[in-house]
Amino acid sequence: DILPVILSGGSGTRLWPLSRESYPKQFLPLTSELTMLQATWHRVAPIAGRAPLIIANEEHRFVAAEQLQQVGATPQAIMLEPIGRNTAPAIAVAALEATREGGDALLLVLPSDHVISNEKAFQDAVLEAAKAARDGKLVTFGIVPATPETGYGYIKAAAGTGTRPVERFVEKPDLATAQGYVASGEYFWNSGMFLFKASRYLEELGKLNPAILEATRKAWEGAKRDSDFVRLDKETFKVVPSDSIDYAVMEKTQDAAVLPLDAGWSDVGSWTALRDVSRQDPDGNAHHGDVIAIDCRNTYAYGDRLIALVGLDDVVVVETADAVLVGKGERMQEVKEVVARIKQDK
Ligand code: GDD
Ligand code: MG
Repeated sequence: DILPVILSGGSGTRLWPLSRESYPKQFLPLTSELTMLQATWHRVAPIAGRAPLIIANEEHRFVAAEQLQQVGATPQAIMLEPIGRNTAPAIAVAALEATREGGDALLLVLPSDHVISNEKAFQDAVLEAAKAARDGKLVTFGIVPATPETGYGYIKAAAGTGTRPVERFVEKPDLATAQGYVASGEYFWNSGMFLFKASRYLEELGKLNPAILEATRKAWEGAKRDSDFVRLDKETFKVVPSDSIDYAVMEKTQDAAVLPLDAGWSDVGSWTALRDVSRQDPDGNAHHGDVIAIDCRNTYAYGDRLIALVGLDDVVVVETADAVLVGKGERMQEVKEVVARIKQDK
């Protein structure tokens, strides 16, 4: 019985100025007519045994509810965090909810900001991984790495086929380490999607990080429930230590397993990542909106007004009503520093 858990509490700062705290990227239609949240549901719906659980920030409750309704998803619950505490607590909230009144379920934890071009391959992989998850493994899906990206987790798998044990899980290594991993050919990227029994996640979190589990449990027990939302208790959730599942559990557990996934996966983590999953012209340019490009290569432009580009290579231009971004493609990870600066100046 697969219970999809859709995480949509991130703030998506690297896609500024389109993605804002008030309206982050998971709620935007970046690569298709569906928003990324809607696409996440669409891709998992055929294999979901149950209605999904959504974990989002309180601020986005109406947009999340409305977007799910538009695609016919009727969530089991939309759980609201008063403040982001990263993914380890968010997933704990889902696991607590799934084991409410003595139940259990296979949680399929899905970030809401990925693109997967081959949905069938993704669905098949999840069904295959379910066996190991039922046996108590914490399964992740491994992607053959294309570049020494430092924003990802790296997984060294034991020899074998199918779902196999994880020998090492290293979250966000530095560049030199990541280069070594990619060159070795022995590592996968962590896709950030997980499959495990709710009860097993709670056990591992309780063992490896009891402070997170106990504080989250208090906030969940004190939650206010109405017909539309489950609101975690604000005062108690505020003191939950902030940490990701990757650091808090996956790096440390002895029971991790990995199944390789070849499904055209991309974490749309930057403007250039978005360019690379969008339809491109023969010179590698991808544009959204009214754009004229003369003698350009590998550019990305996004905007409502007419944008004209002349003689550029690897340049990103994004214009919105109140801000314009112009930058070198290879430095698009630094957009988050722009956002940090804006916050600082406020
Ligand atoms: N509800 C909730 N609350 N969701 C959150 C929170 C939170 O506090 N923080 C992040 N999320 C959601 C984001 O919206 C996203 O969908 C997902 O959880 C993952 O968070 P990211 O912040 O995007 O993680 P990351 O990209 O740095 O790293 C993770 O994903 C990589 C692949 O994309 C890790 O799992 C890496 O190991 C992995 O390689
Ligand atoms: Mg991410």
